[in-house]
Amino acid sequence: MNELEQVNVQNGLLWLRHRRSRQDVLSEAFILELHRRLFGEVWAWAGKFRLTEKNIGVDPIQISVQLRMLLDDARYWAEHDTYPSLEAAARFHHRLVQIHCFPNGNGRHARIMTDAYLQQRWNHPPIDWAGGFDLMKDNTRREDYIAALRAADALDFSSILKIVGAE
Ligand SMILES: Nc1ncnc2c1ncn2[C@@H]1O[C@H](COP(=O)(O)OP(=O)(O)OP(=O)(O)O)[C@@H](O)[C@H]1O
Ligand SMILES: [Mg+2]
Repeated sequence: MNELEQVNVQNGLLWLRHRRSRQDVLSEAFILELHRRLFGEVWAWAGKFRLTEKNIGVDPIQISVQLRMLLDDARYWAEHDTYPSLEAAARFHHRLVQIHCFPNGNGRHARIMTDAYLQQRWNHPPIDWAGGFDLMKDNTRREDYIAALRAADALDFSSILKIVGAE
């Protein structure tokens, strides 16, 4: 990650921490605004949904529909205690990166979104995603994280639950 990206992400995190309104984080508007706040100074298209196919992610025309279903599910999980907090977070994170809303920045955005979900809906502290590593670089933590997402694609959630610290 270059310096401009780092500064932009830091400013986005400051915005997230200090924003006045208690806007629902489980909304399309919030998802888009968070991406713009994290990456808007780096990429002109930040805060707008992907319009072209990538190897990861749903067909671009499906993004807003799939996202709506995920946000409804995540709200339901919190209101009905369907899962323990960290399991809800793990499932939310996986579905969000699987949809892959944006051309880039999906991993970082979805990790921060997941922490915002945990905080607002569960009053739970953020996840230690990096676990002492730099998750942006190639290392064992990064490999484990990607492998855990792939396993979750195949409906095996055990590894991603470990990553988020649920077990
Ligand atoms: N097989 C997979 N299934 C689901 N999600 C995946 C898979 N492989 C990668 N990902 C997610 O996609 C992200 C990479 O997408 P993108 O490049 O848009 O995000 P980024 O924030 O720039 O990420 P990074 O710098 O971590 O690669 C990964 O961080 C991970 O969250
Ligand atoms: Mg990337």
